Amino acid sequence: MTQKFAVTKESCTHCGLCIQDCPIYALEFDDEQFPQYAPGKAEFCIGCQHCLAICPSGAASFGGKKPEHSHSVSLEHSAGLLQLIQSRRSIRRYKDAPVDSAAVQEIVKMLPFIPTAKNADDLYFSLVATKEKMDAIRRVTYQKIAEMENPTGLYLLAKEAFHAGKDLIFRGAPAMVAVATDKETVAEGCETVDSVIALSYFELYAQSLGLGTTWCGYAFMIAQQIPEMYALLEIPENYTLGYTMLFGMPAVKYQRTTQPDMFKVNIL
Ligand SMILES: Cc1cc2nc3c(=O)[nH]c(=O)nc-3n(C[C@H](O)[C@H](O)[C@H](O)COP(=O)(O)O)c2cc1C
Repeated sequence: MTQKFAVTKESCTHCGLCIQDCPIYALEFDDEQFPQYAPGKAEFCIGCQHCLAICPSGAASFGGKKPEHSHSVSLEHSAGLLQLIQSRRSIRRYKDAPVDSAAVQEIVKMLPFIPTAKNADDLYFSLVATKEKMDAIRRVTYQKIAEMENPTGLYLLAKEAFHAGKDLIFRGAPAMVAVATDKETVAEGCETVDSVIALSYFELYAQSLGLGTTWCGYAFMIAQQIPEMYALLEIPENYTLGYTMLFGMPAVKYQRTTQPDMFKVNIL
């Protein structure tokens, strides 16, 4: 990575917070007590911009991004966030209406804040947001399932449901998102992890905007069986599909939260 950390000498107070907060300890003071990359360390910089975020005097910038263009920090919403987490439901009935493009744009603006293992901006989001495209995906999927000689399990269920006029796989959703990771740059072992984290953020933010979502393991499984799905989702060749999620305007309203059982938790 090219050297991107920079400091405005006039406003630097030499506090050293940027040096302390660098995840790979790439920064050090120069002879005049200004922070700089330590020799040979710039190439390891992952571009997390913690230096820019932590600098009390706004002296640190990164790749030309100036501190005054950042959002203010706000972490005091635990009650609302917990309520959102508890209220989130998998939505399996959707209004037959396209997703408001303003809501899609809101979600897109949130995406860069999603963490990835190496902080590489290498996630690929395929947002299928038109009925025509969703219907094309549905058509190909059920066609391929119909052509299977002896479908079992999910495929048999989906086939039977389809004949009964029900869309078991895509739940009649007007939109879906597929997330993929770049095979070349993704952190080792994180091909699925980065995508699934991304969809967790996607889901919560989408539901906070009044949209419904459902994780779609079925579509993910089918994409492994039916290569055409990669093309329909327009996943580039050098990317691995991580997971899929349906979304749209919900046609169902829950009156209360569920009361899930506790997981096994061991506080050591
Ligand atoms: C990784 C994952 C894959 C899932 N795949 C599907 C799916 O293919 N179809 C579906 O209807 N629900 C799917 N779900 C939804 C779960 O069934 C659902 O989260 C669970 O029953 C709890 O319900 P809730 O999300 O409303 O709390 C999936 C959930 C996760 C986390």
